[in-house]
Amino acid sequence: MTDRIVSAGPNEGDHSEVNLRPRTIEEYIGQERVVENLQIAVKAARMRKESLDHLLLHGPPGLGKTTLASIVASEMGVNIKISSGPAIERASDLVSILMGLRDGDIFFIDEFHRMPRVVQEVLYPAMEDFALDVVTGRGPGARSVRVPLPRFTIIAATTRVALITAPLRDRFGVVYRLDFYKANEVDQILRRSAGILSLDFEDQAIQLIAGRSRGTPRIANRLLRRVRDYADVISDGNLTKTVAEEALSKLGVDGLGLDEIDQMLLDGLVQKFSGGPVGLETLAASIGEEADTVMDVYEPYLLQLGFIQRTPRGRLATRLAYEHLNEPYPEHLEAHQIKVQGDQLAFNENDN
Ligand code: ADE
Repeated sequence: MTDRIVSAGPNEGDHSEVNLRPRTIEEYIGQERVVENLQIAVKAARMRKESLDHLLLHGPPGLGKTTLASIVASEMGVNIKISSGPAIERASDLVSILMGLRDGDIFFIDEFHRMPRVVQEVLYPAMEDFALDVVTGRGPGARSVRVPLPRFTIIAATTRVALITAPLRDRFGVVYRLDFYKANEVDQILRRSAGILSLDFEDQAIQLIAGRSRGTPRIANRLLRRVRDYADVISDGNLTKTVAEEALSKLGVDGLGLDEIDQMLLDGLVQKFSGGPVGLETLAASIGEEADTVMDVYEPYLLQLGFIQRTPRGRLATRLAYEHLNEPYPEHLEAHQIKVQGDQLAFNENDN
């Protein structure tokens, strides 16, 4: 699964050779509202010589949460320590990390929703009070000692904000959602990357790759690297539209950036479940995937394309999905569609 070419999760080889990640805020393309707000927050914190407020970034994978955290650290002129929820297994792991930080340092925690409950319970008071209550001794002689911590900043990233408990979410001064990038932004990102890789390219080749990148820079850069391989082998390194078309078709990525697994999911929803509504678990089982994987990896882009809807009764194929599959749309499905966009968004954020 992880080596699927259009997976938004990191693949082996994504960090090979030249690093394409932007290192400064000026190089960062897209997510304008988030970037502008972060720039102000960084300036204000620096002016006041304070640490930055704790920050929670959420949204689909591959959109640059880790990159943004690293950029914020470098703009603040502080160190960043990077870990992930499942890697911090015990409260003592967290304590030793926090005690090793310096004032102003950033502790970036990826997959924050997977942090064990016992670790979360130590984290809440630490985030709020910059201190830990440590119990020493046993029985009647036990005493609680308050250990001060440096004024650190947590930057947490998650694909599943609904799984973060309210008390933990409340400890973050700022919560931002990263969204899929617009086609012109992915285009700009690809041009920058092609420049770094010293690639000769036709504009249309870049546009073609951008259109199949699912609004996700990680996928865009991965496709660019793979298409470059074809260009090197079959056209002396020239990235022409024809080379890009041929390469993308060989890689099994269709005109919208859907691969075989997305197609299977959509096709299954339409054929086996008559378009739905069908429960997430059932749908996932029908393609041999975990429900969590379907939710985190496949669904966000299909939702963004408007091909499926999450409804209280289950997943539903839309008219657009039927059109994409060249199938006639069964009118009875209309009755299940959720009409109000706002309602659907609220539902998407909170439901699983
Ligand atoms: N490479 C990956 N993500 C990027 C972004 N948001 N801006 C510029 N280059 C990128």
